[in-house]
Amino acid sequence: MTVTAREVTGAADLIRVELGARSYDIVVGEGLLADLGGRLRPLLAQPRVAGVTDANVAPLYLKDVEASLQRAGIDHFSVVLPAGERTKDFAHLRTLIDRLLEARVERGTTLVALGGGVVGDITGFAAGIVLRGLDYVQVPTTLLAQVDSSVGGKTGINTARGKNLVGLFHQPRLVLADVGTLDTLAPRQLLSGYAEVVKYGLIDDADFFAWLEGRGAAVCAGDRAARIRAVCASCAAKAAIVAADEREAGRRALLNLGHTFGHALEAETGYDGTLLHGEAVAAGMVLAFDLSVRLGLCPIEDAARARRHLEAAGLPCGFAALPAIRWSADALIAHMMQDKKVRDGRTTFVLARGIGEAFVSRDIAIDVVHQLLRDAIGI
Ligand code: GLY
Repeated sequence: MTVTAREVTGAADLIRVELGARSYDIVVGEGLLADLGGRLRPLLAQPRVAGVTDANVAPLYLKDVEASLQRAGIDHFSVVLPAGERTKDFAHLRTLIDRLLEARVERGTTLVALGGGVVGDITGFAAGIVLRGLDYVQVPTTLLAQVDSSVGGKTGINTARGKNLVGLFHQPRLVLADVGTLDTLAPRQLLSGYAEVVKYGLIDDADFFAWLEGRGAAVCAGDRAARIRAVCASCAAKAAIVAADEREAGRRALLNLGHTFGHALEAETGYDGTLLHGEAVAAGMVLAFDLSVRLGLCPIEDAARARRHLEAAGLPCGFAALPAIRWSADALIAHMMQDKKVRDGRTTFVLARGIGEAFVSRDIAIDVVHQLLRDAIGI
């Protein structure tokens, strides 16, 4: 494993993302927000921070964060964006950039993304382009952001043509995941993040998947130790993959298990909130396993086991459990062909030879996918 330092410090677990001069720590624990200023201070080029958050998170945690920055002698101001996926667009990026420039940020100012994936992605993108690059840190407050989007430096916004089509790789200086913030998360949001946790087991860690079969319910119910273990295992898995393939030239594409289908499902709902990202990924992972079975690559028992666990957790695993819109195989295929992973007209699928044995394939005849979707939709 390429994670070079993972030590249990008592108060927090530390996972190192090894990227040479751009290496950084992921700190996982409880009650970490109060300590943010102290942990940040040694990393800052100047003692000035711009906090970026959303209207849901601000009333919950912004005061604590500001107080922590104050105690550490860090000058700060905050930008509060509207909550929701629709904030990840050009209009809000412009608003954010205007606010940063009005406040006269300098090259040494650090942005702090306090919130879920939307806040992290748009803040990281703004950090990458304002004054040709500012530092930023991720303080993820959702399970999805803690185990996936805050780690690895993918930043960006959505466009009318699809999700995350505009952005850049820009690594944070620190990720601080306080599992205490998960207590205020709506159950559906938490479950959506849990799909990404399961993903790591399905990709290459059958033991972790088996652990989740036993302890996943505890993770979702709020057991502290189980949550910390799940977040740490997920971050360690992601850190190893990112260290090996930062810019998704190969292995990092495994993290897209369920995403080729999932992004198409999300696009069909128009990102209207009726289908959350993790829900789409859960349904997408089931489809990816079904496709693997249909191609004779994966035992049907493994696909059934993956589906059983996701379903037991309460995630949607088939079209009957997805929003009741007029699903069409043609429309879903059209979305897949717009994905940024399309190469020479062929789209990329992450398939599996079993639980914990995922692999990337660019060789799948689209007719097979089309038929799979028709059968799954029931038309
Ligand atoms: N969420 C997939 C990745 O970071 O590569």
